[in-house]
Amino acid sequence: MSSPTRSAPDAGVVPDAGAPSAVSIVDLTKSFGGLKAVSEVTIQVPTRRIHGILGPNGAGKTTVLNMVSGFIQPDKGSISVFGDEVTGLSPHQIARHGVARTYQNIRLFAGMTVLETVAAGAYLKRSSTIPGAIFFSPSERRERREVRDRATDLLRQVGVRAEPDALAETLSYGDQRRVEIARALATEPRVLLLDEPTAGMNDAESHEIGELLLELRGSGLTLILIEHNMRLVEEFCESVSVMNSGAMLAQGAPSWCLEQDDVKEAYFGKRSDAARIATLRRARRGPGGS
Ligand SMILES: Nc1ncnc2c1ncn2[C@@H]1O[C@H](COP(=O)(O)OP(=O)(O)OP(=O)(O)O)[C@@H](O)[C@H]1O
Ligand SMILES: [Mg+2]
Repeated sequence: MSSPTRSAPDAGVVPDAGAPSAVSIVDLTKSFGGLKAVSEVTIQVPTRRIHGILGPNGAGKTTVLNMVSGFIQPDKGSISVFGDEVTGLSPHQIARHGVARTYQNIRLFAGMTVLETVAAGAYLKRSSTIPGAIFFSPSERRERREVRDRATDLLRQVGVRAEPDALAETLSYGDQRRVEIARALATEPRVLLLDEPTAGMNDAESHEIGELLLELRGSGLTLILIEHNMRLVEEFCESVSVMNSGAMLAQGAPSWCLEQDDVKEAYFGKRSDAARIATLRRARRGPGGS
């Protein structure tokens, strides 16, 4: 990647002076073998922002989220959450800084009901072990009831259609993704990282997720989501970072970023390819074809 990252004039990716970013990523770099999956990526996400990370398959988006949440350690660069450096900390320690996440490949515990899954998130926050939380109820019955009530509220908030006592792994993809969001919210995060939250959902369901993001931001959360649904991005993200082959292509307002030539090229191929395809189509239609 030779071209430098460009930002829109109204990018809004620079936080207010004096106020630390909710998430500050500086020069983050990660290689797997000879492949630079993420190369000197810098992203600043102000508090209470819905920020999208975009880019074609293999761009390095999930690797960025994996580093922010501590699942992968960066080779270089730093990550801060509300001004506290978290680079090199474990996922559990980063969760204690208020960061929760969902996964591109859904990860629900086998054999657990919907309600138990979300309650497990709440118990993680309360530092009980998951087996202890689920199989051996805590001595305080009140705490147990509070956790169940909170889990029930969260399931309602994220719009899970299935019964709370259904096995989570039997749910539709859409509901499984909602349960993952509810489990993440049960840890009472300040920052929520979502890796393709609408994958497998139709337009109406995706829109509901967008509305949920707005509601969560309204309650004080900062949201960073990886998303391929451009309609959702344009409607709900206030700023985006567009990556390709590990590097940052553009950052700023979604509409501005999606208009940039190298962003379009990353998604749709080179302009010369597009021109060649158009010429071929015209040739196939023959003279006078429309
Ligand atoms: N654990 C790993 N070991 C080796 N290579 C990896 C690993 N994780 C990711 N990669 C590689 O790093 C590159 C970036 O992968 P990543 O999953 O971050 O992309 P992505 O932007 O999330 O793509 P997608 O939209 O397909 O999910 C890819 O080439 C991928 O094959
Ligand atoms: Mg990914």
